[in-house]
Amino acid sequence: MAGKERLSPSSDNSREPGEPAPEASSRLICASADLTDGGDGVRFAFDRNGETVPAFAIRHRGRVYAYLNRCAHIAMELDWKPGNFFDTDREYLICSTHGALYAPESGACRGGPCRGAALTALNLFEADGKVYLKKD
Ligand code: FES
Repeated sequence: MAGKERLSPSSDNSREPGEPAPEASSRLICASADLTDGGDGVRFAFDRNGETVPAFAIRHRGRVYAYLNRCAHIAMELDWKPGNFFDTDREYLICSTHGALYAPESGACRGGPCRGAALTALNLFEADGKVYLKKD
């Protein structure tokens, strides 16, 4: 499902009494099931120093990761179709403009014109079947 957008926060009663909800210090991005290994990513907006910038979440080898949707070569969004971030082998994130390749687990450049630069990583985690972005 390309171009999924984030979910609205919902209540959850699977925590211990008194345990703070993840929403208290984090922002809900999507359900865990929305991110399949090497599959489409989920795009979302990220507030960086008062500026709203595009970002995305993906799953790679079971873990979730998020990055600003901005290539390190030229500040352009990576996906060629909303939510399509992986190359055909589903091993690297690929920029649709000039083909820069990035390691999904770190955002580090692995080939192409990004030349040793990296994507900007965001702090993502899973809890209770949902994916959250940690607030700073
Ligand atoms: S803009 Fe991404 S590789 Fe050039």
